[in-house]
Amino acid sequence: MPNTSDHEMREPTDFGDGRYRAALVNVTNVCNLECRHCFVFRAGNPNLARDKMDDATMLHQLRVLRDKHGIKSMLFMGGEPMIRKNLVMEAIKLFENPSIVTNGTYGIPSAPGCLVTVSLDGPERMNDPIRGDGVFRKVREAIFTRKTGDGTIVILQMTVTKENAPGLEEFVEEVKDWPVDGVAFTFYVPCKGEHGPLAWDDLRERDVVLDRVIALKRKYPKLIKSNIPALEMMKSDRAMNYTGEHGEHCGMRAMLPLYMGKGGNFERTFCCYGNDVDCTRCGAYGVFNGAYHRMKKGEEPAYSGS
Ligand SMILES: C[S@@+](CC[C@H](N)C(=O)[O-])C[C@H]1O[C@@H](n2cnc3c(N)ncnc32)[C@H](O)[C@@H]1O
Ligand code: SF4
Ligand code: SF4
Repeated sequence: MPNTSDHEMREPTDFGDGRYRAALVNVTNVCNLECRHCFVFRAGNPNLARDKMDDATMLHQLRVLRDKHGIKSMLFMGGEPMIRKNLVMEAIKLFENPSIVTNGTYGIPSAPGCLVTVSLDGPERMNDPIRGDGVFRKVREAIFTRKTGDGTIVILQMTVTKENAPGLEEFVEEVKDWPVDGVAFTFYVPCKGEHGPLAWDDLRERDVVLDRVIALKRKYPKLIKSNIPALEMMKSDRAMNYTGEHGEHCGMRAMLPLYMGKGGNFERTFCCYGNDVDCTRCGAYGVFNGAYHRMKKGEEPAYSGS
């Protein structure tokens, strides 16, 4: 436990008086991988490796922000959060509903009650050109050597792009017997004006990929952690109802994104995916799944933007 008593504690950035039930925090801007699709390291985001906050200050600031904004759910992210494993293991205790998303190359943390999402972007032959040579093997080893039955919920997550989409079914066949609690899919979030190998220029091309995920869900209903109605809501004729052109309908904008900015102070970005995003082609599954659950509960579907 870090000693906080001999620190001159900096107070967090003022993010106003809004209530945020959910937030994410980039505990470090450092990463051991250089994934081709990564939004964190895009130009225009707070993401410099030299900007850092020590453990005691971060624990203090997270506590203050939790109490000020009523934060219940906190997603620990980075960079690679497990580079600061000791800090993360302390910080998850501050929140009712903590979760971690990790590249899995530092092992899988034992965090009872916590959701640990481990990123892999397709079968080995597709994952490694994106995440780096030997990464798939390393993550597989970490998954197989972790202590199971400790109450940590471990999910694999594939970020589907135009490029790795052909490997969806092969990926599921490759991991379906791994000791994990499920496999999740999210889709690529491009920058504005991006026309490269990763982004679908026309969302109608993505619809057929969504149908393949729906077919996988029907084949492996327990393993695949996607809801069919949420996947249907991602289809090209409806998606904009839940995103808007500039995030005006997006429920995820009700989440507070704490990026690590200048001088090691928290900065908020436009949304969890940073500052330069094309909402009209957003593939964040959480946006649509959140809207689906709100609709089921009879709540307002759209974010008011306030
Ligand atoms: C940014 S990473 C940070 C945590 C950790 N380093 C990892 O890779 O899991 C969090 C998740 O965002 C996904 N991701 C990265 N770039 C993305 C993008 N442009 N669109 C959608 N998801 C993306 C990653 O694949 C990963 O699952
Ligand atoms: S491991 Fe995570 S943070 Fe690092 S480059 Fe890849 S997606 Fe980005
Ligand atoms: S998460 Fe919301 S605000 Fe961010 S890119 Fe997607 S639709 Fe836009």
